[in-house]
Amino acid sequence: MDFAPRIVAWQARHGRHGLPWQHTQDPYRIWLSEVMLQQTQVSTVIPYYLRFLERFPDVAALAAASQEEVMPYWAGLGYYARARNLHRCAQTIMSDWNGRFPPTAEQIATLPGIGRSTAAAIAAFAYGERSPIMDGNVKRVFTRHFGVEGDPSRREVEQRLWVLAEAQVADAPDLNMAAYTQGLMDLGATVCTRGKPDCARCPVMQTCIAYRDARQAELPTPKARKTIPERQTAMLVLQHEGAILLQQRPSPGIWGGLWSLPEFDAASDPTQAARRLGWEPTQRYELAAFAHTFTHYRLHIKPWYVPVRAAPTPGEPGAPHQWVNLAQLSSLALPAPIRKLLLGLLEAGLPE
Ligand code: ADE
Repeated sequence: MDFAPRIVAWQARHGRHGLPWQHTQDPYRIWLSEVMLQQTQVSTVIPYYLRFLERFPDVAALAAASQEEVMPYWAGLGYYARARNLHRCAQTIMSDWNGRFPPTAEQIATLPGIGRSTAAAIAAFAYGERSPIMDGNVKRVFTRHFGVEGDPSRREVEQRLWVLAEAQVADAPDLNMAAYTQGLMDLGATVCTRGKPDCARCPVMQTCIAYRDARQAELPTPKARKTIPERQTAMLVLQHEGAILLQQRPSPGIWGGLWSLPEFDAASDPTQAARRLGWEPTQRYELAAFAHTFTHYRLHIKPWYVPVRAAPTPGEPGAPHQWVNLAQLSSLALPAPIRKLLLGLLEAGLPE
């Protein structure tokens, strides 16, 4: 048996059947579920889905509401552009489509915020249209089963996957598209998972290239790691009578609003840096350097432990600061690597 019929047979026995958006052909309900499920798990979506439908039972009800009326029904689901697009879609359907959902995947894909795969899923579930999907889970199933190399978010790789997806549908003339589409989603979510695929339970194991070559862990090919810039900084752990000086980071900005250590140029002298803040060092110890990776750069941090005498002048004007006992740290909002550094010092005991 070919790929697609095996997926359908598997879906009937082992797929998911009781989800609230199944067993309806109402494109509005199906569309809503697909949009909610785009970046969100099934278990999170279910209560939102039911509440949303109770308040907005059809396209007309959604289009008639204002954006402000809709947003509370989305609050907590995240990715709020989805809700704004959903609302705009409903208005477009009323104005351009006479209140009827567009009748083909190609036309559905012209609506705001609906991509090719979501449009295909809606058309397959609502109309039985023979249009294949290719979402994140299905990309994983296809790259493994057909041995497709290359990062599937790259255009040419994605194009190859679409061609393969079309071919599976073309090879199966009597395919139940709703069952096939749901089966692919279910297989990706429950069997062909990212971390530990359960190949023994897979209906297409016999023809799977990743299984044959034991390459499940290598496919799909991961995104090329961007090389990100490296930056250097130094930090002062000023200590006076067992307390440490913390400064509040400016907001907005990295670690905005959190309590961190005073920073200075990694090429300059920690003793001078302490004096600039208004404190006279009695000693200085270089602590173990470490690095922290942010989204856009990697920061190498060289911490210095500097016991100080009480100084007459206050710290940097304008920078909110406080002296805290290491035992009080748990009640403060600290960046994780700074908390780790200070707790390490607490454990090791402060040198005098
Ligand atoms: N994820 C996206 N669409 C889905 C569906 N119809 N059922 C389960 N999970 C999904």
